Amino acid sequence: MQIINLGSKEEACHYVANELLKQIISNKKSVLGLATGGTMVRVYEQLVNLIRINELDLNEITTFNLDEYIGIDYDHSESYYTYMHDVLFNHLSTWNEERIHLPNGSAEDLQQETKHYESLLDKEGPIDVQILGIGENGHIGFNEPGTSFESLTSIVDLTESTIEANSRYFEAIEEVPKQAISMGIQSILKAKRIILLAYGPKKADAIRKLMTGEITTDLPASALYNHPNVEIILDNNAYLSE
Ligand code: GLP
Repeated sequence: MQIINLGSKEEACHYVANELLKQIISNKKSVLGLATGGTMVRVYEQLVNLIRINELDLNEITTFNLDEYIGIDYDHSESYYTYMHDVLFNHLSTWNEERIHLPNGSAEDLQQETKHYESLLDKEGPIDVQILGIGENGHIGFNEPGTSFESLTSIVDLTESTIEANSRYFEAIEEVPKQAISMGIQSILKAKRIILLAYGPKKADAIRKLMTGEITTDLPASALYNHPNVEIILDNNAYLSE
């Protein structure tokens, strides 16, 4: 695992956007693993600009998102489907909707949906580059502390801390979904390369725990030590925790 402090949020986001760009340029049939959350908004803004400047055709690019809430529809303003279209997909005309994948949190049979998503990942994958944020409690995707490192795509219960952290996007905390479908930790580790991005003081505690090197299900992100190609991209606020 490489831990890289790039100083500012802007530089850190630019690094991640540029690595995605390089991946797309190196293989027009790349499979990208995408993440949501406030952290990624600036990455996608920069990526849209870079793709426009380079006039890239995305028609054969495949994307998989990590997770989606259960209990709100695709077209809800806070669904991850809406987020991805608002910040990335709707800004570029050449994405192929058939190659864009997010778990369906309003599927009638949610168990079946988790199996379907994992099998799609196996069929279309492996993911070339997986980008990740990190929860304040160290979660990746929606894999909360205690999740087995063997986990595949599944239905997960969100912890109080995650519901509280994500309530800033909803009108009231009661409106925050309590469950999600998330790629599992093992599903994430199948990617060829993983880039985790964290900036701002709220992530400092999780990053400090990660940097101790202890591998424990109490800190889901520590599973990344079991992967051969991981970069942790930080700003000064996430890195300088004291
Ligand atoms: C959410 C997402 C994660 C994301 C994390 C951090 O719950 N499921 O994929 O990394 O929380 O979000 P933010 O970037 O808004 O801090």
